[in-house]
Amino acid sequence: MADGHITYTTENLTDAVLARIAPDAPERTRIVMASLIRHVHAFVKDVELTPTEWEQGVAFLTELGRWCDDKRQEVILLSDVLGVSMLVDAIAHRTHASVSETTVLGPFHRENPPRMENGQHLSPGVAGEPLEVRVVVADEDGKPLEGAQVDVWHTSPEGFYDSQIGDGEEHAMRGRFVTGADGVVAFPTVMPASYPVPHDGPVGRVLSAMGRGPMRPTHVHFWIKKPGYRELITHIFKDGDPFLHEDAVFGVKASLVTDWDAAKQAGGAARLHYEFRLPKADS
Ligand SMILES: [Fe+2]
Repeated sequence: MADGHITYTTENLTDAVLARIAPDAPERTRIVMASLIRHVHAFVKDVELTPTEWEQGVAFLTELGRWCDDKRQEVILLSDVLGVSMLVDAIAHRTHASVSETTVLGPFHRENPPRMENGQHLSPGVAGEPLEVRVVVADEDGKPLEGAQVDVWHTSPEGFYDSQIGDGEEHAMRGRFVTGADGVVAFPTVMPASYPVPHDGPVGRVLSAMGRGPMRPTHVHFWIKKPGYRELITHIFKDGDPFLHEDAVFGVKASLVTDWDAAKQAGGAARLHYEFRLPKADS
């Protein structure tokens, strides 16, 4: 070391970067940034990242941003297929048996979906197998919760969300219901389908590079909000779907898989019935 100049090496660079975090930076910022720096440096050293691979990484992240707009969220998709979204969810919701389990939000929720009344058809004019949905929103002890807001969304029978059909502006197969005194939201709709996550962009290339498929098993999304209770973001999956064990985003949990076809044996329509149980907000 000459003239007091410092040479940064593979041995001392990580500590040098960590030392630049100001001691009076907010505590959470220090914890998160220090861990991020340590892990990213360890990753680069572990794989001995080459300059060409670094350039490819930069190009990939740049492209990821370019693919995003109000209908396409490639960053959430990357987080989903790498299992990061489910890991965050698992840490945030270490729930116990008496409350419903959560899963990923996914990239297809839309703000301000059409307001629907109980009994109103969720998918008018959409051809497909009829599906009767009836869910109850209750507290941890099973007492029905009145006035809970329930956003519901699912794919067409061909496996497309409304934002992927035509110009994507029209709302279909989605709605916002509010529970009555019995905690119930019930409506007819059409049977959704298993579908590939959007794989025509940079995340699709990552999946195929790893030899992975893009499919998600058949499900209906729910986002339930009731003041004083913890929000519930989840799906209900259709039992028997061939993709239950290879969900591209790792969102399946056993408690969220139900038999939709049981009523068909008695000549009725397919049925999705579920009771959601929400814990108190601060529990
Ligand atoms: Fe979905």
